[in-house]
Amino acid sequence: MLVTGGAGYIGTHTCIALIEAGHTVVVADNLCNSKRESIEKFKKIMNTHIPFYEIDVSNRKAVETIFENHQLDGVIHFAGLKAVGESVEKPSLYYENNVVSTLVLVNCCLKFGVNRFVFSSSATVYGDNKVPFVETMDLLPTTNPYGETKAICERILTDIAKANPSFSVSLLRYFNPIGAHESGLIGEAPNGIPNNLMPYITQVAKGMRDYLSIFGNDYPTIDGTGVRDYIHVMDLAEGHVAAIHAMLQGVHIYNLGTGQGTSVLQLVKAFEEANGVTIRYEIVERRPGDLACCYADVEKARQELGWIAKRDVVTMCKDAWRFEKNTLHQGV
Ligand code: NAD
Ligand code: UFG
Repeated sequence: MLVTGGAGYIGTHTCIALIEAGHTVVVADNLCNSKRESIEKFKKIMNTHIPFYEIDVSNRKAVETIFENHQLDGVIHFAGLKAVGESVEKPSLYYENNVVSTLVLVNCCLKFGVNRFVFSSSATVYGDNKVPFVETMDLLPTTNPYGETKAICERILTDIAKANPSFSVSLLRYFNPIGAHESGLIGEAPNGIPNNLMPYITQVAKGMRDYLSIFGNDYPTIDGTGVRDYIHVMDLAEGHVAAIHAMLQGVHIYNLGTGQGTSVLQLVKAFEEANGVTIRYEIVERRPGDLACCYADVEKARQELGWIAKRDVVTMCKDAWRFEKNTLHQGV
């Protein structure tokens, strides 16, 4: 299995789940948002060697070399840029990186007869549909180029699968992955100031940031703060293994979430209680582009993949904190 973006947050955890399930893994990553160290740590956890190619997966020649060197049975395409705010400032970078890489990979699959393709999509493609989000919903426009790249790649892969009947595509729409592998060796370590809630909370807990800014408390939710469907990254990783095992010809779309909504204040409280720490926070203005509420309908994945998320929010908080305590940040 070729895992692009396999040095990143979700990719490293998925490599573990794949190897545990008996798959052989090859990783390609240009390390633009990750470090070689994560590959080393991964080897330490799994006590195994994985071939690693430091390449840009938009580079067709470099990708073809991997297809020539390895007998691949599928591609899981995690590699992509994912900072929503940056995508508004640099749309062409996002379209080029995320869309071109998908085209290059899918064309290599067709050329080399590799018939399974798993794509990292996002709940963001639902726009502001009514929750819970169901796979059959029409996609609504997203508020940023990052989300558009996901919707465009979904359409490209759908068209290609229609034209190539032996090709199987899984479009996996992730909700909000948090937490870390239980070893505490790998997890989410963003460069600079975190955009996402959980890494910000763990950095406040560690004393690296003074307080958490909570973006709005006047949403129509349980306590006025934004509600999301947080999923443990290892559950998400295992969802990929289930998707690969169940792969059928054609295009199949699955939400990977828990089906449970948790507000910002609820997550802060859960983190404090799980870890015996205090998180200082202040309520500030809403963040532009944020939805009030986002959570998944998870029935389709349960029925067709036989997969459900097993780990609860307390485990997510404990595992995120264990990893944070082990992590040295640079340039903060
Ligand atoms: P990440 O940044 O930790 O991992 C992505 C990896 O891809 C990084 O290691 C980066 O170096 C690599 N990469 C990026 N562009 C590349 C290129 N052109 N060639 C080679 N490598 C490249 O992000 P993540 O959280 O692990 O996300 C993985 C995927 O899941 C992304 O496609 C992201 O858009 C999608 N996703 C993430 C979330 C989330 O909340 N984390 C939610 C929905 C979807
Ligand atoms: N939040 C804060 N303070 C922060 C960071 C976030 O209050 O410092 C709030 C947000 O307003 C939101 C919630 O915490 O209500 C979650 O925010 P995140 O930034 O962690 O996650 P998002 O739901 O905004 O977006 C994430 C990924 C997207 C992906 C989406 C899918 O960043 O790439 O999940 O649901 F598309």
